[in-house]
Amino acid sequence: MTAHEALDGLGRSGIREVMDLAATLSDVVHLEIGEPDFPTPPHVVEAAQRALAGGAVKYTLSRGEPALRDALAEKLRRANGIEATAESVVVTAGGTAAVFGALTAVTRPGDAVLLPDPGWPAFELIAQLAGAVVRRYRLRPESGFEPDLDELDSLAGDACVIVLNSPSNPTGAVSSRETVEGVLELAARHGLVVLSDEVYEQIVFEGEHVSPGGLDADGRVITVHSFSKGYAMTGWRVGYLTARAEIVDAVVRVQEAVVACPSWLGQRAALAALTGPQEVVAEMADAYRRRRDLAVELLEAAGLLVARPRGTFYVLASAGAAGLDTYDFARRLLLEERVAVAPGETFGPAGAGLVRLSLASSPEAIAAGVAALSRLAGGHRVGASST
Ligand SMILES: Cc1ncc(COP(=O)(O)O)c(C=O)c1O
Repeated sequence: MTAHEALDGLGRSGIREVMDLAATLSDVVHLEIGEPDFPTPPHVVEAAQRALAGGAVKYTLSRGEPALRDALAEKLRRANGIEATAESVVVTAGGTAAVFGALTAVTRPGDAVLLPDPGWPAFELIAQLAGAVVRRYRLRPESGFEPDLDELDSLAGDACVIVLNSPSNPTGAVSSRETVEGVLELAARHGLVVLSDEVYEQIVFEGEHVSPGGLDADGRVITVHSFSKGYAMTGWRVGYLTARAEIVDAVVRVQEAVVACPSWLGQRAALAALTGPQEVVAEMADAYRRRRDLAVELLEAAGLLVARPRGTFYVLASAGAAGLDTYDFARRLLLEERVAVAPGETFGPAGAGLVRLSLASSPEAIAAGVAALSRLAGGHRVGASST
């Protein structure tokens, strides 16, 4: 088998495809990528500069520096209600590597994993790399994009993991405590591991962020966090995971094989972010809320709003017509209007007829993007309405 055959069937993130095409064009309005447009807070950069001058350029322990894991355990206890210790935390190369480590550690080839639809594309790519069988559970706008527990019950059968993502990319939904409790009860009944991706936990406008790990009675929850989104630190590549000891050990073994350890410099920056002033996190979240309000108002006026996001910096919008290939639509929007968005179908079949706009961009870009979307979607409209 050649390298390419081994990867046959492995899709690509449609977001990265749009980014690649956008990179060949000029004057593009970028609403495709899920990356804060704010710089990393200056005190974090300064701490990293000091760490660099002090020689933080070597390997660390595979599971990450003890001082950072101590601080993370304290944060997990305080903010998430999770009984973490430094020993139950692994620092990872972003949330992506945490999800990779977790799915690789707890699935065997052929095991079924339950993924949200629509959901972050890398969940599926990582599950495929782990040799798992993907079963999607539907998130519908009419139920606030909350999982349907009856549907989960019928899919859970012989599955081994359920992936939860709240606040959710791409829907912007924030799961209620009731939903979290319902999923945990179902997971216990079916013997599922719960992988909870909470990388947007700091960007919540309405409702409260509930960590399933804080309600976990029997060690079945793996919790994934990241510094990328809340602290505007995407390029530093620092995330973390907490779970019961046996899973943590397995994730550390995966990590040793894949990246050896997370970057020391990144870890020093993360420690400064965690222990320094937090107002800047709230200020960025506030800016995203104002942009969410603007996008909702404009999309609603254009008849393209799907649902009002309660968190994250994403909003789903109608592409105007059912049955339209959203990859084609995103390509046309880019080539004809110079506006880059993420095609809905990259998030799963439930993304048909939709596109995702990232609100990690200026209000002007959001307004220009919605206007262009409205022009192109208008040509495809078959009674799109704001449901
Ligand atoms: C739901 C979700 N999880 C995890 C990640 C990974 O982010 P990072 O690897 O930068 O922490 C992303 C990034 O877009 C995401 O949307």
